[in-house]
Amino acid sequence: MNIQVINGPNLNMLGVREPEIYGSLTLEEINHLLIQKGEELGISLDFYQSNHEGAIIDKIQDCYGKADGIVINPGAYTHYSIAIRDAIAAVGIPTVEVHLSDINSREDFRKISVIKSVCKKQIWGKGVNSYSEAMEFLASKGQ
Ligand code: DQA
Repeated sequence: MNIQVINGPNLNMLGVREPEIYGSLTLEEINHLLIQKGEELGISLDFYQSNHEGAIIDKIQDCYGKADGIVINPGAYTHYSIAIRDAIAAVGIPTVEVHLSDINSREDFRKISVIKSVCKKQIWGKGVNSYSEAMEFLASKGQ
């Protein structure tokens, strides 16, 4: 099984960015932990991060016919990118939306996800475990 992990804007700043909210791990450290989790689950992973909406859409489209699942943290695009939502719907690949922080206990605008309805599951507030739970879900019953 091959899963594409996609991280959106400002997630390349993890480790520096508001550590009291997002934790102190860098994106590279998170990805390293996910590779270990993938080995346990027999999943191979590809990683992609971009600060640009169109580049994220290109990557989602590129997954068509290649990836068995997508784990996406769309960052702030979660709350308003209909275009990313439509790309996920277009490829029809089982997708899990993840967030490091608890988006439901922060500002009201973070409680809205335009992505959620095209995803199999939304997982938030568990730090790196949001990603590993998404991998477990896709490995078990996500497909
Ligand atoms: C985030 C939550 C978003 O609201 C925020 O814009 C992010 C990160 C999270 O992982 O908690 O960039 O997706």
